[in-house]
Order: sequence, then C-alpha cells, then structure tokens
Amino acid sequence: MVGIGIAALCMAVPAAQAQVKLNAGNIDEVIGQMTLEEKVHMVIGCGMSMGDGVKFPGTAGRTYDIPRLGIPSVYLADGPHRLAMSVKRDFDSRFYYATEFPSGTTVAATFDPNAAFQVGAALGEEVKDYGMDVLLAPGANLMRNALCGRNHEYYSEDPVVTGKIAAGYINGVQSQGTGTCLKHFAVNNQETNRNNNDSRVAQRPLRELYLKGFEIAVKESQPWSIMTSYNKVNGKYTCEDIDLTQNILRDEWGFKGVVMSDWNAGKDAVTSMKAGNDMLQPGQDRQYKAILEAVQNGTLDEAVLDRNVKRVLELVVKCHTFADYEYANETDLKAHAQVDRTIGAEGIVLLDNRDILPLASGIKNVALYGTTSYDMVPAGMGFGSTGVGYYTVSLVEGMRNAGYTVDADLIKQYKKHLADEQKRLYPNGRPPFSLTPLKRAEEFVPTAEELAAQVKNNDVAILTFGRTSGEASDRRVEEFYMKENETALIKQVAEAYHAAGKKVVVVLNICSPVETASWKNQVDAVLCAFQPGQEVGNCVADVLTGKVNPSGHLPMTFAVKYGDAPSDANFPYDYEFKMPSFAMGSGMNFKSKEKEEKPKEPERNVDFTDYEEGIYVGYRYFDTFGKEVSYPFGHGLSYTTFGFEVVSSDMDAEDCEMKVAVTNTGKCAGKESVQLYVKAPEGGLEKPAKELKAFAKTKLLQPGETEVVTLSWKLMDMASFNEKNSSWELAKGTYQWMAATSSADVRCTVEQKVTKSQKVKVHDAMRPLYKIAENDMVKR
Ligand code: BGC
Repeated sequence: MVGIGIAALCMAVPAAQAQVKLNAGNIDEVIGQMTLEEKVHMVIGCGMSMGDGVKFPGTAGRTYDIPRLGIPSVYLADGPHRLAMSVKRDFDSRFYYATEFPSGTTVAATFDPNAAFQVGAALGEEVKDYGMDVLLAPGANLMRNALCGRNHEYYSEDPVVTGKIAAGYINGVQSQGTGTCLKHFAVNNQETNRNNNDSRVAQRPLRELYLKGFEIAVKESQPWSIMTSYNKVNGKYTCEDIDLTQNILRDEWGFKGVVMSDWNAGKDAVTSMKAGNDMLQPGQDRQYKAILEAVQNGTLDEAVLDRNVKRVLELVVKCHTFADYEYANETDLKAHAQVDRTIGAEGIVLLDNRDILPLASGIKNVALYGTTSYDMVPAGMGFGSTGVGYYTVSLVEGMRNAGYTVDADLIKQYKKHLADEQKRLYPNGRPPFSLTPLKRAEEFVPTAEELAAQVKNNDVAILTFGRTSGEASDRRVEEFYMKENETALIKQVAEAYHAAGKKVVVVLNICSPVETASWKNQVDAVLCAFQPGQEVGNCVADVLTGKVNPSGHLPMTFAVKYGDAPSDANFPYDYEFKMPSFAMGSGMNFKSKEKEEKPKEPERNVDFTDYEEGIYVGYRYFDTFGKEVSYPFGHGLSYTTFGFEVVSSDMDAEDCEMKVAVTNTGKCAGKESVQLYVKAPEGGLEKPAKELKAFAKTKLLQPGETEVVTLSWKLMDMASFNEKNSSWELAKGTYQWMAATSSADVRCTVEQKVTKSQKVKVHDAMRPLYKIAENDMVKR
C-alpha cells in the first residue's frame, strides 16, 4: 500500500522533554514540545491499516502517535453504511462482524433526519464498541447524474435533503462520542478518472447546489472532520484550494474541525498545508519530505504547520482512544439489525400500486422471479462496504418469515441457475474484496410450460431486479436500462399471470435510478427498495405484506430515458475507465485503458467535466422546462391517503415558518412527509420553477388522526447567488410557499410578500477559469 514507508521515517525524539502529557487544555504547550519532524508526522497519516499486525485490520488508517507526549493514534474507519474492517484477523478464530445498514440513498428516501440519526447512532456505537474513533462518513455529494458510481453512498439530487439527512446522521454518530468525517468535499460527482478530473462549474450552481448540502450539514451538526475530495474544481485540487477549505468552510460557515484529504489525494503537500487541509491521509513519504523541507527552507511558515497540528490534536482529545475507553470488542448486532430493518423498510418507496399491495390476506403462495430475489443487494461496493457482509436476507427468507409459501420449483431452478452463473462469471471464485461491483447473474425466462404451472400454483408473482455500483468507476448507460432478458421476463410473466387474473409486482433493489417508463404499465405495482442493508429481504417483505406502510419518497428524479437530463451530455456515460489497482489515488495521472490511442488534448468528461446544466439539476430542470419524467422527485405512495391543510404561515426578518395539518384520511395507519417548495417572484435572477426549502415527517398516524408539522427555513434560504458581485440576493416580491407530497403534487399554496430585497456578500471564491458554456437544453 502507498504510504507504508512512513513508519521508516519516524524520527528518534529527545527523551529529556517527556514531562508534559496532552490534555484538552494544553495543546499549545504540547506542540511547543514537539520536534519539527513530529509535527510533520502529525499532519500525515501512518499508512492504511491493511497488513498483518495492525491494530484494526482492514480499516482506513490512523493518526500519528507520540507516546512521550501522551498522544495516542486515533483510528479512522470507513462508512457510510457499514463500519468497514476485516471480518477475519490473522491468528484469531473469531469473526468481527459489523452491521450492513441501509445505503445513504435509502436513508435519504425516508425524508426523515431522525431516521438518519438512528442509523448514525447505531454506527457510532459500533465504531466505539470495536475500539475505533472516527467514522469516515457521511458522503454528501449531490446526485448530479444517475450514473455516478457512488450515488448509493450519497443522498439526493437536492441539497436540502442532502444537508438535513447528513446532519441527522452526523448528530447520530456523534451522539455516541464517535467522530464523523463529512466527505467528499466537494463537487466529486463522478468516479471516472476521479483523481484527476476537473469539475468545471460556475459559482452559482457551486454555491446553490454542490456546496449547499455541505453547508447545511456543517451548520446543523458540526462534524468533527471533513474530507476533501480527489477531483479538482475549476482547475485546483480541492485539498489545495484555500478558497474551499478556509474562505468558505471556516470563514463563512464557521467549521471548527479538522480537514483531511481523501486517501492519497492531491499533488502538492505544502499547498495543502497552506490551504488548511490539516491532515493528509493515509500519508506518503514524499509528502513528509516536502513539508519538512518547506519549513526548513522557509517556504512554509512553521506557524501554519502548528495551526494544522493543533486542529489534529483538538480532534485527538475528543476521541474514545484518548479517553482510554475500554471497548467491548463486540457490538449489539441484534439491536442494530433491528435498526436496519426498521429504517431500511422506511426508505422503501412505493412507486405504483394498482390494487395489489399490501398483499391481500387470501394470498399465500408467491412465485419469486429475477435472480435478485434469491441474491439480494444489501449495499453498494466501495470502501464503505467491501461486499463481505455479515449476512443478507433474501426475499425467499423474507417472505417465508412473513408466513408465505415460496414456489419450490422456482427456488430449485434459480439455485441451479445462480450456481451456473457464478461458475461462468467467477471461474476461480468470487473475490474476497472488491471496490467495484461484483458481476451479477443474467436473467432467464422460464418456458411456457413452466410458467403455466407456476401461474397455477401461485397467487402472485414478484420480480426483483438488482443493480449495484461501486467506487472508482461509474455506471455505464446500459446499466440504466433494463436488459433484453429482464424486459422479456417482465413481459412474459405479466402476460401469463394477467391472463389468469393474477397480479405482478416488481421490486427494484437498486443503487440509483433505472429506466421504468417503458415497462411500468405492464405490471401492477412497482416498489423501489434501493439498498436497505443486510435485512433487505425482511424490509421488502414488511412493505409487501403491509406490516410496514410505505412512507419513503424519491430523493431523485426517475427520468424517462438517459439523455433527458442536461447533465447526461456532460458525463462519461459510455466510457470504460480502468484505474490500475496499484495506483489507487497515489496522485499519479492515469489515463484510460489504451494509452497510445488517447489524444494529447484533455479529454472531455474524463480529464474535465463542464457542468453546462448550471443550476438545472434534477427536478430543477424537469419542472422548469416541463419535461416529462417517469417518477418525479419526492414521489412516494402509501397504503393510506392524507389530507393537507395550512394552519399558519409566518415570516420575520430572519425566519420563515409554515405549519401544515396532515390528516390520515384513509383506512390504515401511515406516515407522511410534507415537502415545502418555494417559487420565487419574477424579476431578479432567473430561478427554477420551484425549490425545496424544508421537509417534515409525521409520526405514525392512525386513520382519522391529524398532526400539525412545522416546516421552518431561513429567509435568506430563498435567496440566489449572484456571480457578478458574489452575493446572495433575495428579490422582493410575492413568494409562493407550496406544501407538497412530491415536486409534481402540490397540495396547498400560500403567498408571502418580501417587501425589501436583501444582499449578503461573501467571498468571490472558486471562480471558473473560463465561462462554462450553457447546455442548449437549459437555454431560455
Ligand atoms: C474513498 C473514501 C474513503 C477512503 C479511505 C477513498 O478511496 O474515496 O471515501 O474514506 O478511501 O478508505
């Protein structure tokens, strides 16, 4: 692993100075007693904890320790959906299991920061129970495009959902005294060539979309640390850009914690130090040498190094390890599985339902189709979860647990098919560790005779389709679409069951949107489960059977086809980028597979990506330009119905508030999320048709029960960013406040007048090097 040579550089230290020991009150004094070499070590990591003999095998890394000054290493491990560490350790017979929690996207689909808090709290407890200190999570990059390989770790195409859910998660983890590391800061919206790609984005979308989620999370939860990303933004590596890590993050947002780089990100360690990227992880010899030399030759002020060391030590003194916490080295896997099951089910989105769900009590025998029913996807791949989980509940198990009989002939057929496919796809066995998605089995369609027997023997057909993605590569456009054999399976199963008057349900167990428009009307219900974690089969069964009334909403738009969103043109949707495994983020400049074929000129969407859609990401585009979608942002059905009524709406010089009474008008208990969109007046800057500013979820409401939910946001949240004078500008005029159940389903609107325009000036930061062209689709 890169960075392993660091240990060899550890310097001998003067033994005579050992009086002072670190505590929260003497950090400056302790720094005063460090040698220059020790200070440099404190701002870089100690390599990845991958080999034999490390304290926590399979974890991301640790900070440097100086025992004579009472400074321990504190331990960093990945999330977001699982505490990532090796399940097995050398010469140790036990298994170190961690819970696979719902993916970031699934958590966001709950539209409930409290659900994120619960997942965070359980994860924070696992980190603590296993003796570590900081969870490298959550990921708060915007879902700019449906094909980003890491969308499953992220929350939404909308920055308010992103920021509020991230804050809930962070507050949850930190409620256990475990630290978080909000990542990947910022504009890391594609994985293709992630170490070198330059995200070129105008200041307005940068401020309003790509930074906004981070800003909300920082202000509402103060994460202990932030991780800068691999990519560049407007020509500069994020870990080397003082505009980002000092001017915006600290000066404007008041961030107080440590900034650390993504693993081996950036090129110039000294520039990173000056930018206030306090710590470089996991640390490389060349970084150590560069920083040391720069201080020695006067190009890096030692006071800058001291400042960065101080921030690292401020983190150290907050950690479990510093407090000598006696960890149990085991965690409450049972309780956490329950958290996963509850929140995993709560994040499931009912997209369509024509008179079939919840399954009626007469339904006893179910036919499960689709290889994913038998081999469910609990989570995405990447360091956040290497795919070596604790267990995964299949849909067979989930339905059986719920008391159903699952067609035994189909089970037999799928078992054989999956075994054959495994041999075909992995003749030498599945890899034990993978960053990129494992290959999934192809579908097959039962013969007409087989189908006829299955229809006869079963009351309903359930088809599950899976998609997974990972780190360091993006999905290709063909993964957005259903494959030919998947479409054939839907068609033939639907025809056979419908001919017998029986119904068909499709379950999507996916990382990110897929195409649904062409086939959704052939079936009776569509459930989008995203990736609910290890309890996946139980979560889906809970919703199918009505044990849980679905209350999830889509945190992103499901477009009709790829190419409908303006960002689609500026994304490497058909590019096969192969990152050599040895080169994981070592700062080298890789190109794709065949070097000699590559043009010399920087390649569009690989070396740089122009964000030509500007502010028109997701529903901001589809709503404003009246473009048809398959399922709109915020969409999600329930087994009951809800009535909305505005109780009050108020505004003062700082704050806005709207109270909405939500009444369960249907026949079973359920929860509802109220989404608050704002439409700005004409005049001032050009605006999207509407923008989400707040959301709130009810408790479980019994039929006839009402709850008044409060939606609050700041007056200046309705402002837009004017690039001409680097100001947030609030236009005067009449604003419409809309309480909705999706971006396409507004239930009630009130008008509020802003009588005085306002401006708040901020740094003129991260300006693009040239004007980003405007995509034709967003020209007005
Ligand atoms: C990922 C980060 C992760 C880090 C440490 C990087 O490759 O981008 O999300 O925290 O590795 O494992």
